[in-house]
Amino acid sequence: MAEVVLENVKKVYGKNVVAVQNFNLTIKDKEFVVFVGPSGCGKSTTLRMIAGLEDISEGTVKIGGKVVNDLKPKDRDVSMVFQNYALYPNYTIFKNIAFPLTLMRVPVEVPVTDKDGNVTGVKIKTRKLTSEEIANKVGEAAEILGITEYLGRRPRELSGGQKQRVAIGRAMVKDAAVFLLDEPLSNLDAKLRAQMRSELIELRKRINTTFIYVTHDQVEAMTLADRIVIMKDGVIQQVGTPTELFDMPANLFVGEFIGSPKMNTFKTRLERDEEGYFVELCGVKKRIGGVRGEALAAKNIEPQDVVMGVRPEHITLSNHEDKEAIPCVIGVRELMGSSLHLHVKTATEEELIVCVPTAPFTLAQIAKLVTGTRIYLTFDSKSTHFFNEETKVNLLVEDAPVASSEEKQQKQEEQPHKKWRRIS
Ligand SMILES: Nc1ncnc2c1ncn2[C@@H]1O[C@H](COP(=O)(O)OP(=O)(O)OP(=O)(O)O)[C@@H](O)[C@H]1O
Ligand SMILES: [Mg+2]
Repeated sequence: MAEVVLENVKKVYGKNVVAVQNFNLTIKDKEFVVFVGPSGCGKSTTLRMIAGLEDISEGTVKIGGKVVNDLKPKDRDVSMVFQNYALYPNYTIFKNIAFPLTLMRVPVEVPVTDKDGNVTGVKIKTRKLTSEEIANKVGEAAEILGITEYLGRRPRELSGGQKQRVAIGRAMVKDAAVFLLDEPLSNLDAKLRAQMRSELIELRKRINTTFIYVTHDQVEAMTLADRIVIMKDGVIQQVGTPTELFDMPANLFVGEFIGSPKMNTFKTRLERDEEGYFVELCGVKKRIGGVRGEALAAKNIEPQDVVMGVRPEHITLSNHEDKEAIPCVIGVRELMGSSLHLHVKTATEEELIVCVPTAPFTLAQIAKLVTGTRIYLTFDSKSTHFFNEETKVNLLVEDAPVASSEEKQQKQEEQPHKKWRRIS
């Protein structure tokens, strides 16, 4: 159990590949922190620097108050689970889990005596664990992970999920202060991933230690983390609870990365008159009142070009009588069970995704929402997000890092819009 502190950590591979920079983070004792971000953003590099498997180019890493930059991995009191769980194929599951314990030495106090045999003090020596101690620890880990009955088998006789549990067990028996996991579920199919995700939540309650977990899957991040660290190009974009990241993304990158389906975005202009803020969206004037309007006013945000974001689950069906409702035509519909995902197009050729919960509707009503149907959409202004058009920074977040989505813009420019029929 320990706090982990990273101060101005930087990693440069070779002469000029900057993999991580300006990394500042304090992970509290027993906290479950998830590093998330797209491929190549520096998640594994950061984790490996904490583990001691990668040199730290600049800055310091502290574990339990001690700077560990120059300590070997085995002296850092960390335990790591890798993506490719690398079990020893010829060892039984018991021996695979026991392996780190056979290398472990524990301190023992040995009495120091003078020449007359009187005890004058104690000396600390180390000894190996006994077979009984090893068997107890392996048994305990196997019990927690539900793999007791497989201890006599070899890895090839286990399923992917069971092998994954063995790898976690092998890391667990070390009783390390910090548990590091690098994409531990990425080799599993969707169903097993979901199952292992809930098992990890349970496991976390039982082994009360500090967890740092790397994934590129935002669902894993949202479901497991106390706090999420979202990274892009080696730089932290935002640190916060899943709810904070979802409700108040620091920039457009975070807004679009967190949440599925992705946040809808519109290029528009945030305007202000004597009644307050408003935007013109797909030919419809939409007032930004409520908490968002108040927050914009409190910061005295100037009218400006913005990218406005609204999440698919925050858009609702309305009707033509609603003056602020946006008329759309349904393109593709995907029935997901508890919700219906509608890909729609507005009169101004904007494409949106809407998640409509199915529960309030009858089957006959849902059956009417088919391709080509005209619908009216609305949303509450409290669910809107405003990012500066140029910097892509959330207008309501202080000191948010600038992370432009140039690649995305370029792609959009390369792909001219398919023409859809206009709705009058
Ligand atoms: N040994 C290395 N030598 C040179 N560059 C490296 C090395 N390892 C990683 N990199 C580079 O550092 C950057 C960060 O890599 P890292 O493996 O930390 O990314 P990641 O976020 O874990 O990605 P993924 O989700 O694909 O695992 C990448 O641009 C990568 O190409
Ligand atoms: Mg990685």
